[in-house]
Amino acid sequence: MNETGARTPDEEIGAGTPDEEIGAGTPDGRSGAGAQDDERAAGAPDVSHGARAVRAWRQLAEGSVLLDGFHALKHAVRFQARIPVAVTTDRRAALALADELAPDVREAVDALLVEVPEATFASLVVRPHPTAMAALAVRPSRAAHLETLARTPRTTPVVVLDNPRNLGNAGAVIRLAAGFGATGVVTTGTLDPWHPTVVRGGAGLHFATAVERLTVDELPPGPLFALDPEGEDIRGLKLPDDAVLAFGSERSGLSPELRARADHLVSLPMRPQVSSYNLATSVAMTLFHWSATGGASA
Ligand SMILES: C[S@@+](CC[C@H](N)C(=O)[O-])C[C@H]1O[C@@H](n2cnc3c(N)ncnc32)[C@H](O)[C@@H]1O
Repeated sequence: MNETGARTPDEEIGAGTPDEEIGAGTPDGRSGAGAQDDERAAGAPDVSHGARAVRAWRQLAEGSVLLDGFHALKHAVRFQARIPVAVTTDRRAALALADELAPDVREAVDALLVEVPEATFASLVVRPHPTAMAALAVRPSRAAHLETLARTPRTTPVVVLDNPRNLGNAGAVIRLAAGFGATGVVTTGTLDPWHPTVVRGGAGLHFATAVERLTVDELPPGPLFALDPEGEDIRGLKLPDDAVLAFGSERSGLSPELRARADHLVSLPMRPQVSSYNLATSVAMTLFHWSATGGASA
């Protein structure tokens, strides 16, 4: 398995060589997983179309972002991710799901999804999602994200996770940041915020906010509010729209470097004898407080 969670060619299960699977290709050399072809329009079996999708998948898997299941695909479509290939084992069921849950993306999903046999699907995706859909998206450029994060004046906060350890927490925070329209989510430390498990936890919402890993020295501009149980009670504060909201590691809280950079230490109300809240729930409360006290003009 590669970093994306998609299988690499070396990990094909029970499949022939890529060439055997993809067949001879089309005489006119057309490619592109999402393209409709004449054969398909005529109601003929979808063999070459599926084969091209499989070939595209194998070429792109390394370095792409795996969108695992319908919700990730839906969000990625809504937030304009570039999706070169998407596969399913059952197009009819996939489109029925889109009709039921997200008719706004039905047309896009219809254009993207290519049906492949179950064994092929299982050879592309390590843990097939119950919705039997998966896609690969292009990871947005770091340069574009850095520009977004550095742009001033900023109208919504940036969330900083200082050396987070739990991939699920990071995903949940990215989903929260997307929901509240935060400018971005920055992580410090070694965790990759684009790790497949984080993307899965974020339900494809990485494309709705700027997600990058930086050092404390590289944090975006803006007043830095660091969340810590020893800080000033958040209920007496209004968090500015250009705030940088920083949260400590699950294990050890805020790092000394982050504390040194902080303009304010802020606490969430908590009764005595409770040590701390979970990281993602702390972010949720803080973003809610920002929005409920006039954030981005509520
Ligand atoms: C699970 S806690 C860290 C617990 C860690 N053992 C410690 O020593 O701080 C993760 C982060 O959530 C935030 N947090 C949790 N409870 C908080 C509270 N009551 N007030 C402010 N921030 C809190 C802080 O940013 C904290 O670093």
